[in-house]
Amino acid sequence: MTELPIYPLTDEHKMLRDAARDFAQKEIAPIAAELDESGEFPHATMKKMGTLGFMGIEVPEDYGGAGMDALSYVLALEEICKVDASHGVIMSVNNSLYCHGILKFGTEEQKKKFITPIATGKSIGGYSLTEPQSGSDAGTMKSKATRDGDFYILNGRKSWVTSGPVADYFVVFMMTDPDKKQKGVSAFLVEGNTKGLTRGKKEPKLGIRASSTSELLFEDCRIPVENRLGADGDGFKIAMTVLDAGRIGIATQALGIAEAAYEAARQYAGQREAFGQPIGAFQGTGFKIADMKTRIEASRLLIYNAAIAKENSKTTGGRYSLEASMAKLFASETAMFVTHQSVQIHGGMGYSKELPVERYFRDAKITEIYEGTSEIQRLVISRSELGMK
Ligand code: CAA
Repeated sequence: MTELPIYPLTDEHKMLRDAARDFAQKEIAPIAAELDESGEFPHATMKKMGTLGFMGIEVPEDYGGAGMDALSYVLALEEICKVDASHGVIMSVNNSLYCHGILKFGTEEQKKKFITPIATGKSIGGYSLTEPQSGSDAGTMKSKATRDGDFYILNGRKSWVTSGPVADYFVVFMMTDPDKKQKGVSAFLVEGNTKGLTRGKKEPKLGIRASSTSELLFEDCRIPVENRLGADGDGFKIAMTVLDAGRIGIATQALGIAEAAYEAARQYAGQREAFGQPIGAFQGTGFKIADMKTRIEASRLLIYNAAIAKENSKTTGGRYSLEASMAKLFASETAMFVTHQSVQIHGGMGYSKELPVERYFRDAKITEIYEGTSEIQRLVISRSELGMK
């Protein structure tokens, strides 16, 4: 595959990208198919990724992170996702949905206590917003946190929590004042071993099978007031701000999956012969290759652009919702398009578990669903462009 020199990367960027590429090839590639089959969580490789700094790339070194920029994060994540989207989503949630929110909204004590174990890879973090009856309409959650002196009592049921069965710490969103709707939501930092918190059954999933997903059940879970993230009532804005960062991660996951599926198709189209010539020599296949490559490079531009917007927002404080949503929308639909075409180019072999192509196809679908469906991304983009709420 031709690598286009579209952004001037620093030596530091290239070194990190190469380190992630090397790690993914050596440590993840040999186990990816097996983990997909067993659905086992990759504890050992996630720990190693933590020691290499991949679990807190933008986290300052003071809190155990690598202290690098937002573009570094997507460059490393892309390499991991090219090899395995399950490792990719765990890395994305740790970096974006978990560490990024605490870094932006947390107190000094919260950063030290809740970021350091995650950024160093000792522990796993999770983000818990969705509920069984509240998905895209996240502001309609029913879980409640009731103030009791210096504590909050948490009750409710959360669903579709990435790393839910295994995470050691969670950022959790609950209603503190349901009458105020979105303005009555607050955010909390919850330790996984808190009394009253139990994990639901692991969800059986179509793809990203090595990333464990479950419900979280809160029954009179007592947590100290100092574990509230941000002010009372700020939770919805925190959730949305953090999702802007998360969506860049998922866009990158989609890019990595698409690149892997594309590369497999490109090689196969040059080798496999039919009617006396390589199938890539038929325009029907060659034009597929052209469309796949073009959409992948367009996704990459949107993603790198969104990462630069995110980096700039660290000094300006401005939002980058539009850039993040466009990147996620386009990259996830590209991943579906490319993996679909890759299976088609491979014919029967694309349908076989002997090649990773069918895994890429299954893994791609979730990128159009979680951290905001494609419909929600279109809503965010159109509202922004039309100046409407
Ligand atoms: N950044 C900062 N503030 C934001 C914001 C953002 N990106 N988006 C909205 N807000 C603010 C608004 O400005 C508004 O504040 P004011 O009232 O002060 O003006 C407030 O939040 C409410 O905004 P809206 O009226 O736009 O809210 P809404 O109810 O119409 O919802 C939505 C907007 C875009 C549909 C939003 O609900 C949304 O993104 N839904 C999808 C949720 C989602 O992505 N869920 C995935 C969960 S994570 C997951 O998938 C699991 C996992 O583990 C990976």
